[in-house]
Amino acid sequence: MYKISANTSIIGKSVIYVPSCHSTNDYLNQLISNKVIEEGTTVVTSDQTKGRGQRGNAWECQADSNITLSCFLQPHFIEAKDQFTMNIAVSLGVYDTITSLYSSNVKIKWPNDILIDNKKICGILIENYLSGRKISNSIVGIGLNINQTSFNGNFPATSLFIETGKKMNLNYASQLLLENLDKRYHQLKNGEIDRLKREYYDNMFWFQEEGLFEEVNPDGTRERFNGVILGVNDYGCISIAKENKEVKHYAFKEVKHIY
Ligand code: BTN
Repeated sequence: MYKISANTSIIGKSVIYVPSCHSTNDYLNQLISNKVIEEGTTVVTSDQTKGRGQRGNAWECQADSNITLSCFLQPHFIEAKDQFTMNIAVSLGVYDTITSLYSSNVKIKWPNDILIDNKKICGILIENYLSGRKISNSIVGIGLNINQTSFNGNFPATSLFIETGKKMNLNYASQLLLENLDKRYHQLKNGEIDRLKREYYDNMFWFQEEGLFEEVNPDGTRERFNGVILGVNDYGCISIAKENKEVKHYAFKEVKHIY
């Protein structure tokens, strides 16, 4: 049972705890379609039974072990073309939380996975709804592995418990997460985009380093190449310089890191 009292002015000011649900993103979506709720309202569960991940994947996690929550935001100040700034602010909020609980080798993997030593500790699913040229509503879903002891998915994963050998209080970790997200959201609202981008790059996995990537061609075939990440453009596409010096911009789903 959660008892979160985050010291925040938007994100987590109001917290709805549900013991079990299919997906906190879906629960929150249902809630906003039925009634008017305050910006920042956060749905937390201890047992998410049909969690959704990026690329249509499932997000699986043990009950009572991890943070699974979704926040309702209304970032009307963000133009549709700048949507990626939300990913940047949210990734940094999660990054801040993990680094304050565990300090070694935490990285943000574009677009917004958080890794410790190349193993995924957190997944973020941001679902934006547009009205004209602006974002009207945004549902920010976060799955942060805290006390889970083992993983058997098809990518290397970890939890704070696996890294530190210590169980952590979920109320405390959730509170910290909401406070960090709130802080980063305020920076975004205040237009501190350059600062947020700089910090995102400072902590980005493989930024300006050579790595192996796999690109999906329009005919569905896949090709591996070595390249260097140069940055992320305004549309959220990653820019990679290939060995032949050609620079290509890839949207999410068009390229992945191979590691
Ligand atoms: C990913 O694939 O990396 C994104 C995973 C996002 C999981 C979180 S858990 C809370 C929220 N509810 C969901 O159904 N998904 C997100």
